[in-house]
Amino acid sequence: MSKIINPIGIFDSGLGGLSIWREIIKILPFESTLYYADSANCPYGEKSPDEIIELSKVITGYLIGQGAKVVVVACNTATTVAVEELRRVFTVPVIGVEPAVKPAALSSRTGKIGLLATQGTIDSPFYRNTREKFAADVEVIARPGFGLVEAVENGRSEDKTTIELLRRYIEPMLDSGVDRLVLGCTHYPFLIPSIKKIVGDRIEIIDPAPAVARRCAAVLQQSALLSDSSLLPEHRFITSGDKEAMKLFLKTIKPNIKYIVEKA
Ligand code: DGL
Repeated sequence: MSKIINPIGIFDSGLGGLSIWREIIKILPFESTLYYADSANCPYGEKSPDEIIELSKVITGYLIGQGAKVVVVACNTATTVAVEELRRVFTVPVIGVEPAVKPAALSSRTGKIGLLATQGTIDSPFYRNTREKFAADVEVIARPGFGLVEAVENGRSEDKTTIELLRRYIEPMLDSGVDRLVLGCTHYPFLIPSIKKIVGDRIEIIDPAPAVARRCAAVLQQSALLSDSSLLPEHRFITSGDKEAMKLFLKTIKPNIKYIVEKA
């Protein structure tokens, strides 16, 4: 398989980062993308920081080896644990995603915000630092979403059992008076239809994906790395997990686009 020319490299522990990929291709329609889903090692959220750093370094190195001009760490867990090390080791720009507690804190009227994220993200000093810096004036009710990543990976985002699991995590937040729910894991935007069944219009759900895509566009522009609009963009996906499951997932979220899916 020939290399794609200067793609935006993107990775996640699995399919979750596709919530960021779809925003990137929406605002950067001339860019090619190379996405790595490490579904064989999913979930990252329950792994040790050392393991997450090692996996992130190997994947980032692979993406750069394939010509990636920037790398988007489309995973909160990998960002909060490994982004500093990736920026130290690699010279291409590395863009991360972290729980959007800042916009939630700024807009909250009740002074209470909910955060659903992985255990790894909630426990990370990186996240603690962000919370202290940008959300010190509000109460953050943080809850690890055990089982939710697996539900998305296995195509069970709208199953009754998944809604019940979400209800267990979110209802106590509603009872405490949160008016914002930050989705601190890139898998969770795929659960929004199910979350809506629980929260209705009572609270605002905050998905950082559009902001990450805008940041990616800004970095490409500042670094003079934007692609030539006369070239046709290509999209290639590599998975360490099940190729057919990835194809099926892509078909559901983006049916009208051409892409190649390969096994790592
Ligand atoms: N999608 C990821 C995140 O944003 C990782 C989930 C996991 O593998 O635990 O945190």
